[in-house]
Amino acid sequence: MRIEWDKEQAEKDGYAHYMLKEIHEQPRALRNTMTGRIDEAQKKVIFPTLQLTPESVQKLEKIYIVACGTAYHAGVIGKQVIERLAHIPVEVDVASEFRYRQPLFQKNTLTIVVSQSGETADTLAALREAKRNGSAVLAITNVVGSSIAREADDVITTNAGPEIAVASTKAYTSQLIGFYLLGLYLAQGKETVDQQARAEVLSALQELPDQVEAILAHADGIRQYAESIKEENQLFFLGRGLDYAVSMEGSLKLKEISYIHSEAYAAGELKHGTLALIEEGTRVIALSTQADLYEKMVSNITEVKARGAVVLGIALANNMELHRSVDEVCLIPVTNELLTPVLSVIPLQLIAYYTSVALGHDVDRPRNLAKSVTVE
Ligand code: G6P
Repeated sequence: MRIEWDKEQAEKDGYAHYMLKEIHEQPRALRNTMTGRIDEAQKKVIFPTLQLTPESVQKLEKIYIVACGTAYHAGVIGKQVIERLAHIPVEVDVASEFRYRQPLFQKNTLTIVVSQSGETADTLAALREAKRNGSAVLAITNVVGSSIAREADDVITTNAGPEIAVASTKAYTSQLIGFYLLGLYLAQGKETVDQQARAEVLSALQELPDQVEAILAHADGIRQYAESIKEENQLFFLGRGLDYAVSMEGSLKLKEISYIHSEAYAAGELKHGTLALIEEGTRVIALSTQADLYEKMVSNITEVKARGAVVLGIALANNMELHRSVDEVCLIPVTNELLTPVLSVIPLQLIAYYTSVALGHDVDRPRNLAKSVTVE
């Protein structure tokens, strides 16, 4: 008997594509990124090897987060996480802009670079620019021996394992875990969060892998939704705050692999232009996971519905109302509000994936794109 052995097929572990495999690897990637970094007894985050000690954290006055693509979108969330937990002002920049815009480096500035591969040319150049200006640099990266890991002063590794599909999934959610841990670590240094609040966030963080698994177990409904949008020419993602940041990533995923034009809008900006694009049948995905912004989101959803939009709402499972304002609803498990991005992005990854499959595209190797952009 002769068994044909296809290396790529073996590496895909029974999944049709690397992207689907990597989407399903997220629970493990998240657990691995948390492993060894939580002191259960003291309910603290520990990063024993960082040069950024609690004493140096106390002196920090400013943080830049710099990255490209999906890693940049993780940074947009990282900004909100750090500002809320550690009360340190954060600016987030696309690396290709940052390196040429002559940013002001004050004393006690930390630059955080985020990169799955650790080799992206613009991110590496931004790192060097920050160091040249006397800023300490901390890298969040998935590749231990990468150029970015070697040149940064400090490294927090995301332990997601190799990511092959061009469209990043498990690296993104692992980068978010990196930011939550770092946000708590900075908050410990700044003494901005008490032990009880810290314990609450940590325990919610540790529940995330199981919650991601629960969403993945219900992927079938999302596949049907993807079938229903595959003929569209455009689609809009709406959200506010953290939901807006996740919308940006959902929109990028869809563009990258389905080639359907989509845009993410801060829902409050709708009336300043975007609303003109909404007509009968326009498809909208509206994220609404933040209690303090909920009423505002419902009124934005009402505005697009009144112009004929067909809306899929994404909300927490304890939301008993949103289904009245939208056409379809996708519920995700309840978690601490700061952590919702890790869960709300999963349906968006699956929508992009199944739409690309339905259209017959090369999911893992989309046209014109590379996994790692090592030239400018
Ligand atoms: C490329 C990839 C994206 C990735 C970006 C940044 O554009 O296609 O998926 O987000 O580079 O890559 P990095 O390795 O720095 O995270």
